[in-house]
Amino acid sequence: MEDGKILVVEDQDAMRESLVIAFKDEGYQVEGVASGEEAIQRLGNNVYDLVVTDLKMKKVDGLEVLKAVKAANSSTEVVLITAYGTISTAVQAIRDGAYDYVTKPFRHQEILKVAKKALEKKVLKDRVRYLEGEIRDKYRFEGIVGNSNAMLEVLKVTSHVCRTESTVLITGESGTGKELIARAIHYNSPRKDAPFVVINCGALPENLQESELFGHVKGSFTGAVKDKMGLFQQAQKGTILLDEIGETLPSTQVKLLRFLQDGEIRPVGGNKAMYVDTRIIAATNENLEKAVESGRFRKDLFYRINVIRIHIPPLMERREDIPLLVEYFLEKILEKLNKGKKTLSNEAMSALSNYDWPGNIRELQNIIERAVALSRNEVINAEELPIPVDEFVTLTKNPLEHEKKRSLIVTTLSEQEKNAIIEALNKYGGNQTKVAKVLGISTTTLWRKIKKYRIKPQHEISDSIEN
Ligand SMILES: Nc1ncnc2c1ncn2[C@@H]1O[C@H](COP(=O)(O)OP(=O)(O)OP(=O)(O)O)[C@@H](O)[C@H]1O
Ligand SMILES: [Mg+2]
Repeated sequence: MEDGKILVVEDQDAMRESLVIAFKDEGYQVEGVASGEEAIQRLGNNVYDLVVTDLKMKKVDGLEVLKAVKAANSSTEVVLITAYGTISTAVQAIRDGAYDYVTKPFRHQEILKVAKKALEKKVLKDRVRYLEGEIRDKYRFEGIVGNSNAMLEVLKVTSHVCRTESTVLITGESGTGKELIARAIHYNSPRKDAPFVVINCGALPENLQESELFGHVKGSFTGAVKDKMGLFQQAQKGTILLDEIGETLPSTQVKLLRFLQDGEIRPVGGNKAMYVDTRIIAATNENLEKAVESGRFRKDLFYRINVIRIHIPPLMERREDIPLLVEYFLEKILEKLNKGKKTLSNEAMSALSNYDWPGNIRELQNIIERAVALSRNEVINAEELPIPVDEFVTLTKNPLEHEKKRSLIVTTLSEQEKNAIIEALNKYGGNQTKVAKVLGISTTTLWRKIKKYRIKPQHEISDSIEN
């Protein structure tokens, strides 16, 4: 018994009837119609796996039937019946999507064989399409680009996590997309209609950390002139992203632990516990295990946070994603600037593919943006890219030499970086949001660099809270 629903379109009654019987005998579900018009009508309310149609018919011919079939359901296969003189048309029909044709006169065996093959192909096609659709729906998120195995794994875990309430820890170097993944989790979870709140724990002044997160009551400290709602409350029923979780103070860590254990928070200076329904996603680019070992981060809190771990590998470890990301950002930027078409030369693409990307995807995005802004021509050349090109040239020749050169570059670069930050901070009166923007880095990264280079802020930190 064969499986499949077939429509036979044939204006010669005897021919049509004998075909219907032949298909029926094989076990197919089969219908027969005597004209192209009737066939097209049936397509409106039926889904066929296969349509077998005569090519030459009055008024509506086989080619038009083929078109209508493909328009109704592109996965339905079509087999044509042709007379000797119409073979060239049949060949054209195959170009238009027909599976095959049989030439009159033919034996039933012949057309049954072709039909069987066509149906097998359809089953396969449906399967592939189903799987593709499933993968797309499951693991694709808007605005997240990547096709490397590493990234597909990240997306797979991300999609599972969306459907749970678990606390998630996202790790990865700066600029790898931690916040992007956290957003995808929130906006694809049942919490999507409630707020998504981002807080950079490392950028909070120490004395305000607890009150920012959990709120405070009026008069609890100098400056607390009225009750203040904390971010946990603002994220009620939603998600809070605790970025740079490793930077939380011991007292904040205790409060976070209590929340994760009992769902309970206590505003600073308040004596009543409050219950909030907020999901925590934590992110960090430091090694939290090390922070636990050194006693800077509570072990019990670490275990509570590290329920599901999503690690985003640095771009250098998934170079396959670079061309995709380049295309993606190029298109996005051209659209934003309303610029005409621009492409990258092969050398430019290979330079980008070979570069090490210490600033990961954020750096790639910035470099594409700058290249587009600077380049006058339609094709962007390697020389126009603001990356140290000779780095990759030496790579294959002498790895050791390369390492040496690299560390030299790194020292001088960090020296330059430090100076650039100091200069910009002075110029913009310590306004970190402005400085970050001017330097093309996130406020998080800026904050980290300020710490790394031990730059003393000469001005009050006016706006270091990122959101
Ligand atoms: N896979 C990706 N596809 C498209 N854009 C991406 C991808 N990953 C990151 N980006 C973009 O790169 C930039 C940096 O990403 P994001 O802010 O999420 O990184 P991060 O890991 O949180 O960095 P940091 O540690 O510095 O805070 C953002 O503009 C983000 O949209
Ligand atoms: Mg971030």
